[in-house]
Amino acid sequence: MNVYDSDRMQSILNAKGFRSEPELRKADVILINTCSIRDKSEHKVLSLLGELKGLKERDPKKVIAVSGCVGQRMGRTLLQRVPHLDLVLGPDAIDRVGDLIESVVERGERIVEAKFDQEGRSYSQPCVVNRAKPSEFLTIMKGCDHFCTYCIVPFVRGREKSRSIEEIIQDVKNLVASGTKEVTFLGQNINTYGKGTGQKLSQLIEAANEVEGLERIRYVTSHPRDLGEDLINQFGKVAKLCPSLHLPFQAGSDRILKAMSRLYTQELYLKKIELLKKACPDIALSTDVIVGFPGETEEDFQQTLKVLSTVKFSSAFMFKYSPRPGTKAADLGEVVPESIQEERLARAQKTVYSQIEAENLTYRNKIVSVLVESMDKKKKFFSGRTPHSKLVHIMNVGEASVGKIIDVEITDSNVSCLKGFYVGAPKTPIKIESNPRGAESDFSSSLSPTLH
Ligand code: 5AD
Ligand code: SF4
Repeated sequence: MNVYDSDRMQSILNAKGFRSEPELRKADVILINTCSIRDKSEHKVLSLLGELKGLKERDPKKVIAVSGCVGQRMGRTLLQRVPHLDLVLGPDAIDRVGDLIESVVERGERIVEAKFDQEGRSYSQPCVVNRAKPSEFLTIMKGCDHFCTYCIVPFVRGREKSRSIEEIIQDVKNLVASGTKEVTFLGQNINTYGKGTGQKLSQLIEAANEVEGLERIRYVTSHPRDLGEDLINQFGKVAKLCPSLHLPFQAGSDRILKAMSRLYTQELYLKKIELLKKACPDIALSTDVIVGFPGETEEDFQQTLKVLSTVKFSSAFMFKYSPRPGTKAADLGEVVPESIQEERLARAQKTVYSQIEAENLTYRNKIVSVLVESMDKKKKFFSGRTPHSKLVHIMNVGEASVGKIIDVEITDSNVSCLKGFYVGAPKTPIKIESNPRGAESDFSSSLSPTLH
């Protein structure tokens, strides 16, 4: 979602005449888009801000701004803590980023804009992307009503609100007209899209499936309780819906799931997986896991390992529990020591990574269909994804293949990717020199600190 928000801010700023400057030293404005999901991501923001102090001292006219969830959570406190910071804006203010930066420059004021939108269940946010990529994210809703006890999202992104199907489909058509082949619809709790507006995610998927020129549809993130049968049964039936789903289970123990307020049991989660596999036997499943939630015992953790071994995910994002200010879990006792968290994380990773490595081996000598998206940073190969979300590096294609869906024969694999050759050309790795559209430096990479 932050990638999408950053792209959006870049487009808005470009329309106002700003352009990207990869070197922080030379930039007139430094905008840091932030995440507060775990403590570590917040620390990174504060340490980057610390590094920028010298730049601001040397060039006081430089505008330094923080957007996103850290801005929302810390608001004025952040401005007080960081004297060289000029602007703080929350996620609901990103569409005004250009005006806010101009106000800082024109009035010389330090500004905090961290209020949530008005009440109501709907909102509008027409597309502003001015340089569509082959695969694009598209936010269809914002906020979350769930309040899982570990999670800061409801506090920094507010209550659930949805855009209309009509507006989203118009965006999809605009993206397709500028070359996009795949859209991933985004929402924190996407299965309840349309709550209070009478529209449903399954209807949006049907409508997107009708958009001519669009080839692939995906959505994240689903919640095991809210993933209804209408959505499950679309897999394998709706032609453009990719056979791949991200369904976080977080923990295998029912006791911990209850303490997390996840509103499902391990049995219900595994039932949903069974239904998904019945609807679409080759569906690729990915998940999120938290280890070391307060009070998690070895027996509880064994249940997490059990789910990991039973489902055999194609990919999994695994995290050590990180207490977030203001959440219920932050006040729970029975903190799991860091060393045990580390050890459980390593065991969970070992379980999953060996499964993925074995799965990726089965791809060797097979032909897969890949949407070519970008070139690697060292300009050695092009990359894309299969409908099952497997990352593939292709060795014998060039810039002309970006944005195309091509057949690739897999010759090699490891835990993180597959490697292969386009079947329509000789199997000779090509030398790449150009800078294709999909690989141009993007907004996030332009933020990488080059301070010297
Ligand atoms: N600590 C660790 N991981 C967390 N996540 C959310 N909040 C926390 C937290 N406090 C993880 C969950 C979620 C993913 C986006 O981040 O697994 O699904
Ligand atoms: Fe956070 Fe997801 Fe739970 Fe919402 S459903 S509170 S975003 S973990």
